[in-house]
Amino acid sequence: MKATVVPVHTSSKPYNVHVGTGILKQLNDLINKSGATGRRFVVSSHKVWETHGPTISKAIGRADNILVPDGERAKTVKTVGTIYDALIQGEADRTATIIAAGGGVIGDVVGFAAATYLRGVRLVHIPTTLLAQVDSSIGGKVGVNHRLGKNLIGAFYQPSIVVSDPNVLSTLPRREFRSGLYEVVKYGMIRDPGLFQRLHSNLSNILSLDPIELVHIISTSCRIKASVVSEDEYEGNIRRILNFGHTAGHAIEAATRYRRFRHGEAIAYGMLVVADLAARRGLLTQADKEALAELIAELGQLPSIKDLSAKSLVEIMRRDKKVLKGRLHVVLPTHIGKTMIVDDVTPKELKQSLRVVGAAP
Ligand SMILES: NC(=O)c1ccc[n+]([C@@H]2O[C@H](COP(=O)([O-])OP(=O)(O)OC[C@H]3O[C@@H](n4cnc5c(N)ncnc54)[C@H](O)[C@@H]3O)[C@@H](O)[C@H]2O)c1
Ligand SMILES: [Zn+2]
Repeated sequence: MKATVVPVHTSSKPYNVHVGTGILKQLNDLINKSGATGRRFVVSSHKVWETHGPTISKAIGRADNILVPDGERAKTVKTVGTIYDALIQGEADRTATIIAAGGGVIGDVVGFAAATYLRGVRLVHIPTTLLAQVDSSIGGKVGVNHRLGKNLIGAFYQPSIVVSDPNVLSTLPRREFRSGLYEVVKYGMIRDPGLFQRLHSNLSNILSLDPIELVHIISTSCRIKASVVSEDEYEGNIRRILNFGHTAGHAIEAATRYRRFRHGEAIAYGMLVVADLAARRGLLTQADKEALAELIAELGQLPSIKDLSAKSLVEIMRRDKKVLKGRLHVVLPTHIGKTMIVDDVTPKELKQSLRVVGAAP
């Protein structure tokens, strides 16, 4: 099958995202064409490597292999240190290419190591979760968590190429897959009614990992993210629309200490909250609000938020420095495929909508 190529035009570096079923077989060729000349270091996690290592290493050819733990708890400077150790011991020089093969955690951690080792060496992303394929591998945000907060340490560092093969998703736990799909719903809501409709009409094929559907939703999502980050690489106003559903979503994740929800599940609640709020303001029709709620319901049951009080969630949102900046900026949907950013949402409105989607008073 022919691969789909999505160009990303950031001011720091243009690069391509290649999406195709079985495309991993072409890794060596693709990496060569992206300009890599020196030695290759593939960094992955034990878990990902166990299943996909043979395919990836066969396709890449000669490369050193570095394995680190993954999962949110391993997204630390300590793991970055382990990668530096291996690179130094392996005598990686400025011409080296670091290849990150894994989910969003591996991409962020390895990307940060690549951004800082010898002040920056070439980076390749091979995302292996749906979330990483549609979101974290594009746009250049890399970094790690600090014990006092998520993603507090990081950089903007673009890869030279991203290679996404939907075949790897067959081993992904169902819940992880669905969690990534909520981000695809987000792209539909912010920019693409056609994508939203396709999710709705072809959901059973998507859930059964139909290759044509997967290539379509992944490449369409990449195109949307690429177009947003190309307009706004360093997160000014435009990139903010990618935070659609994330204000309440982040608060729900934080309130449950990142344990109860997969990221996308919390974002699903966040999208329901802003849809309810927008509908109350008369910005979104009841029909569009219901279409979103229906799609989210079709995607499966979300963990409950009925023990979380709307009041405490709003408190968390108000403390969130990133969204605060004096006022809370919230991305509201106005149609399926269109949004507007407002800075006058009141705590009362947020509480009201949180209760509607299931939070306690
Ligand atoms: N850089 C960005 O712009 C950006 C954007 C969104 C999210 N993120 C970050 O991404 C991270 C979340 O990423 P994630 O959801 O991919 O989680 P993850 O990297 O923790 O992966 C989830 C789980 O899936 C496993 N896994 C990965 N690929 C697999 C496969 N093909 N088969 C079976 N198991 C597989 C992993 O071992 C892990 O246990 C968060 O840390 C978040 O902050 C970054
Ligand atoms: Zn997200």
